[in-house]
Amino acid sequence: MQRREFLATAAAASLAAAEARAAEQPVRVGMVGVGGRGTALLRTLADHAGVEVPAVCDIDDNAVARAQKLVAESGRAKPDAFARGPEDYRRMFERNDLDGVVIATPWPLHAPMMLAALRAGKAAAVEVPAAITLDESWELVETAEETGVSATMLENWVYRREPLAVLNIARAGLLGDIVHCESGYGHDVRAGKFDARRANKGELAWRGEQAVSRDGVLYPTHQFAPTAMLMDINHGARIESLVAMGSVSEGMNRYAADIWGSDHHNARRSYANGDRTTALLQLEDGRTALNFNDTQSWHPRDDAHKYHGTKGMVRWPFPGEGTIWLLDRHWDGRSLDAREWHSLNPFLEEFDHPVWKEYGERALAFGHNGADWLELRGWVESVRHKTDPPVSIVDAATWSAIGPLSEQSIANKSQRVEMPDFTKGRWKTNPKFELRWEWS
Ligand SMILES: NC(=O)c1ccc[n+]([C@@H]2O[C@H](COP(=O)([O-])OP(=O)(O)OC[C@H]3O[C@@H](n4cnc5c(N)ncnc54)[C@H](O)[C@@H]3O)[C@@H](O)[C@H]2O)c1
Repeated sequence: MQRREFLATAAAASLAAAEARAAEQPVRVGMVGVGGRGTALLRTLADHAGVEVPAVCDIDDNAVARAQKLVAESGRAKPDAFARGPEDYRRMFERNDLDGVVIATPWPLHAPMMLAALRAGKAAAVEVPAAITLDESWELVETAEETGVSATMLENWVYRREPLAVLNIARAGLLGDIVHCESGYGHDVRAGKFDARRANKGELAWRGEQAVSRDGVLYPTHQFAPTAMLMDINHGARIESLVAMGSVSEGMNRYAADIWGSDHHNARRSYANGDRTTALLQLEDGRTALNFNDTQSWHPRDDAHKYHGTKGMVRWPFPGEGTIWLLDRHWDGRSLDAREWHSLNPFLEEFDHPVWKEYGERALAFGHNGADWLELRGWVESVRHKTDPPVSIVDAATWSAIGPLSEQSIANKSQRVEMPDFTKGRWKTNPKFELRWEWS
């Protein structure tokens, strides 16, 4: 048997054993918001043994019915519906047969729903970003501390293969000291900002309403999570301040004009959000990080990650193949030309995170290159075993705060704004970010 085959067989056997144990101690999850993302999460949850879904909630009856069907078709009991209006999630949180809730609703509802869940004693996992104001970020941190209930943000980029492998590469010392990181999310999601997926009359969906009123790096965490892990943010380092700028805003008008005509009211209105917004972060130790967000331009997908170390650099575009440059070209017996970029692929193989070695094949059948399956597994296991969730609420609050802080900076001609210390000084002693993966 080849080594690769042997590892795959061993991983499958260990996963099967873990699943058999998990089934004996099921985690009962309530879903709030079963639109596009909530449905994808539910489908992914349904692949995990030892997960029951006793209740689903949405203001849209059709969405609820679809979610009930999905769960029933997975062989589980049909969940109860909570669809009596925008506050019905509170009634669902009163149930005593839920261990945790997953929240996948529009951004302005994230923090209020999560706070209600924590106060009802339900472990809460919220979609990104966890909060859209600094007050919300603080309230999440304080309430999680006061209640002692598990609270996390489902940031799937934490679990992507590349950032986890790059973290291992960095921790093995190949990159030297990380001095600067650049990361950006360039994803044209304008169809979701209008009602193009539903009535298709050019009216704004909740995402589009955000673009009307807010100018900032409104969706900061996908791109920032890998940087935060690499730069030990809140785990030995701290963001001190940031400055931000927004570009012109044309994408929303252009999209509406192309589809519904240039006289359509949403083609003619003004949108606050720049097509590309960029924040430059200053760390307390002098290092820097750039974070851009671009979800309403008309170019193809263009995520961009670049990590600078004193002895090496990694470039990880998406889509596309990553490259690495190493100054120490004799590392570990390898002879690499230090004047050139080299493919990152062999390094991914060598430095793969254990979670990918163990579960990667199974995870890849699910969304965001497997990251969705892994993040849900990580959260469910933390609820089952009453351990800390993979991403702390303090990290979630900090990463999310880039949104409102960049709004403040842009509104004041790129004035520098201070990042609150959501760790309350613990960043100095917090251990480095580690992803738990020994699931049983
Ligand atoms: N992590 C990722 O990769 C990823 C991908 C897509 C979306 N998201 C996030 O998921 C969230 C949802 O996005 P989406 O694309 O699914 O949006 P969506 O509009 O498709 O779904 C939102 C759902 O929330 C429901 N809802 C609204 N108000 C409600 C209330 N008061 N109570 C219960 N349900 C309510 C809506 O009816 C809808 O079904 C957003 O925060 C988004 O940023 C994350």
